[in-house]
Amino acid sequence: MEMVYGRGYLSAGGDAEVAGIVDGFDLKAGRVLDLGCGLGGASVTMARDLGATDVVGFDIDEEVLARASLLVEENQLEDRIQLVHGVPGVLQFVDESFDLVYLTAVACHMSDLGGFFEEIVRVLKPDGWLAGSDWMVREKNQEFRVWDDLLRDRGLNFYFVDQLEFSRVLKSVGFQQIRFNDRTAAFTRFSAASSLRVAQELKPLLLSSLGDEGYQAFKQWTDVRYSGLKNNGMSYQQLYAQKSGAGY
Ligand SMILES: C[S@@+](CC[C@H](N)C(=O)[O-])C[C@H]1O[C@@H](n2cnc3c(N)ncnc32)[C@H](O)[C@@H]1O
Repeated sequence: MEMVYGRGYLSAGGDAEVAGIVDGFDLKAGRVLDLGCGLGGASVTMARDLGATDVVGFDIDEEVLARASLLVEENQLEDRIQLVHGVPGVLQFVDESFDLVYLTAVACHMSDLGGFFEEIVRVLKPDGWLAGSDWMVREKNQEFRVWDDLLRDRGLNFYFVDQLEFSRVLKSVGFQQIRFNDRTAAFTRFSAASSLRVAQELKPLLLSSLGDEGYQAFKQWTDVRYSGLKNNGMSYQQLYAQKSGAGY
């Protein structure tokens, strides 16, 4: 994934996409939770390039956190980023302890989106923000079904919902000021470029690390994703929501 998305990332867009998502938030002033931080790319760019002084990167996967830890060390950001391992469900953070929860390409893995967002609301301070991005169903058309089936057949835990449902669930747990910013066009371009790189430039490297079968499976996934985006099966949205303040 890092070969395709860049060092530190399990989702597309890299440092520039992170900067776009948090643009307008004063990261110096508050405590940030990078929920589902994966390989740590977003935590590192927030602390190294965007002024964040207190970031907690949380993930349920010890292997990705070990790799995130190397990235934090290489950037000498141990004093600004704390990496925390936990289990799905109740987060081991106290109530009202974060100003911003940053979340990219994680909500799509939740079978209980409401329970997941309830935990985010709990750990956010009053008036705190959720900011991030995720995959959302555009139309349940043929291209969407091919994409969804492929992931399901591979035993991967994806639970895609559309923007309306996403918004409804955010509202139901007490978020307000819910806003989306459609990044589908940009992600379609990323996706087209990734498909091409996987077929050409990255092929020898991917073949040697994944083997022939693994490479074919990975290539099929990148092609299906491109087709799903291009043909309106799926969208990619930045999302923002604020926890209600006084009286929540
Ligand atoms: C597609 S990756 C995205 C990683 C990172 N946010 C990025 O954009 O590069 C999804 C991440 O969510 C993590 N994850 C899955 N379920 C989770 C949960 N319940 N709580 C926290 N992280 C979770 C996975 O371990 C994985 O690292």
